[in-house]
Amino acid sequence: MVGQDPMTNRKRTLLILGGTGDALHLARATEEKWGSELRVIYSLAGVTHNPARTVGEVRVGGFGGDEGLARYLRDQKIDFLIDSTHPFSTQISRHAALAAAATGTPRCALLRPPWQAEAGDHWHEVVDMAAAAMLVPKLGSRIFLSVGTRSLQFFSELREIWCLVRLITPLETPIPLLRAKFVMGRGPFDTASERRLLEQHRIDLVVTKASGGEATRGKIDAARTLGLPVVMVRRPDPPPGEAVGSTDAALSWLMKELKS
Ligand SMILES: NC(=O)c1ccc[n+]([C@@H]2O[C@H](COP(=O)([O-])OP(=O)(O)OC[C@H]3O[C@@H](n4cnc5c(N)ncnc54)[C@H](OP(=O)(O)O)[C@@H]3O)[C@@H](O)[C@H]2O)c1
Repeated sequence: MVGQDPMTNRKRTLLILGGTGDALHLARATEEKWGSELRVIYSLAGVTHNPARTVGEVRVGGFGGDEGLARYLRDQKIDFLIDSTHPFSTQISRHAALAAAATGTPRCALLRPPWQAEAGDHWHEVVDMAAAAMLVPKLGSRIFLSVGTRSLQFFSELREIWCLVRLITPLETPIPLLRAKFVMGRGPFDTASERRLLEQHRIDLVVTKASGGEATRGKIDAARTLGLPVVMVRRPDPPPGEAVGSTDAALSWLMKELKS
């Protein structure tokens, strides 16, 4: 039994820090591959009220900082930790790195590669949201603002700019944008439907995080086909430590750890 601790016969436990499509895929794949041999706990922050369904054990809510997470790792006897949170979720990833170091828990980050610009793309890469907001008025006036609800505040001073914002769930707090339309939708989004959305709203600029991944690259491909510029907010640096770029590579890492 690959998931069994050979010394104690205890079923070993993997904690997946989730909230992304990759994390869901990984949780399903570990379930398929190791089934009842390995205990898999899938952790969500609890920010989305109707999260996508996963398999197995799910826990919801913050841990209480890196110390809270370290306590959780000890209490739940976590053997392996895979941080498959979003590349812009810097706080939880930093906590994961600190907590894993404090408890000696093997940790791997699953970070999908960022998108690469192709011929026909007109990207303007910026270091952060504040820089994106400064650049917007020079490039467009009707923007598709695809940056996550917490980052909308950076664009609140742009009173002349009309914004299209897509939400997964309705907002509970007012949005700090003067001229905006909200549409509801959960990925994946294909290029054709993204192109229709951009055309329908006469969008002349796309603003996005360099998230990477297939589920949300439709807007980038659609912008290229329409010849639209894109403001691409660069990723923050991840904490140091082992990292892989795909769920297959994360499964290989886990397999190696299970055998060691
Ligand atoms: N940021 C994005 O663009 C984005 C996009 C898609 C999905 N998500 C997902 O949304 C969630 C929150 O993202 P964020 O950017 O707000 O994170 P963040 O700023 O890095 O983390 C804020 C706090 O939320 C809690 N938290 C975050 N992820 C958690 C998880 N998977 N399980 C348990 N607690 C978690 C932690 O609270 P404590 O300190 O109390 O432990 C953390 O300190 C993550 O799961 C992420 O994968 C984020």
